[in-house]
Amino acid sequence: MFAPMDLPFSTRLPRFYFAYPPADEPAPALAPEILVDTIESPAERRAGLIAGLLAEPARISPKFFYDAQGCAIYGAICTLDEYYPTRTETGIFAKNRQAIAACLPTGAQWVDLGCGDGEKAWGWLDAVQAARYIGIDIAEGWLAATLQAGHKRFPHIGFTGVVTDFTRPFSITDVLGTQADKPAVFFYPGSSIGNFEPGQALSMLRTMRAHLGSHGRLLIGADAPCNTTTKPQPLLEAAYADALGVTAAFNLNVLRVVNRELGSHFAPGDFEHRAVFNAAASRIEMQLVARRSHQVTVGDAIRQFAAGEAIITEHSYKYTPERFEALLAQAGFGDVRRWSDERGWFNVYVAAPGAQA
Ligand code: AVI
Repeated sequence: MFAPMDLPFSTRLPRFYFAYPPADEPAPALAPEILVDTIESPAERRAGLIAGLLAEPARISPKFFYDAQGCAIYGAICTLDEYYPTRTETGIFAKNRQAIAACLPTGAQWVDLGCGDGEKAWGWLDAVQAARYIGIDIAEGWLAATLQAGHKRFPHIGFTGVVTDFTRPFSITDVLGTQADKPAVFFYPGSSIGNFEPGQALSMLRTMRAHLGSHGRLLIGADAPCNTTTKPQPLLEAAYADALGVTAAFNLNVLRVVNRELGSHFAPGDFEHRAVFNAAASRIEMQLVARRSHQVTVGDAIRQFAAGEAIITEHSYKYTPERFEALLAQAGFGDVRRWSDERGWFNVYVAAPGAQA
């Protein structure tokens, strides 16, 4: 029986390792399978975290936001009045489902990048008559639960999970290749592409492009920057600094994660949440600002924080359609279709592979 909680947690494993079904147990037809790719070792993870904290300015990668607590808080952010991206994108999907689906291949392998609970994908599987769902996420426990939920809802579709850190170059060619005649649709909603620096976003788009052959497609959402007419700057900033303090809790929670990872003693009370829009870079910058001068032991070093000094925890880049379409072209995409809400706050793109990868 499929038991997500029994799945072994892995560190560095040969590519790919089957976490489910167990090798000695034949899988019932179409039962979910989970493959584990090589992922960062705890030592590498720790080293990266320490290097970031000792750098000037100090940085904590946003990937550390998403422990169980962080995932729960992020879920709450998505329902906030101020946080418009989730509901705006959902509205675009709901309103244009058939038109978008018409630009995607039928019978595809639906590749859900950073799938979380899979809820955003379920609405598409029937619309494109998907043959297979491939969920990709770094959180193995979540992935198992998502596959199980999807399999229950769509018993006629194959469900595969890949545990990998897709923020680094990855390949799932072998996984797709088991059904090579079925094109892939890469699904990357939520403007998560905005959490990468532009150079990293470009390599990630190139990685996706490399998996598409000539019939695959990319379906992706990207939030737009503020403007003087429909999207004033305070509205954008409020999405990252809500009145209830939920985003502040999300940001401060990363210090608990760091303490767990490093055995350090960052005190959330010594830092305050800040989110500002940097117009020149077209990004929201989330920071944790030291409320007072103090020091914290980080690995074998002592990190001194001056009062007012900031730790950068997240950048969330905002793309105009022109800018995002240029990035897609640079990554080797050709034809691009775009859908937006009536105020132009958020954009959804379907991109087809172009001539060169
Ligand atoms: C996951 N990502 C797209 C969110 C964003 O809007 O950049 C993360 C987030 N950070 C604060 N609020 C939401």
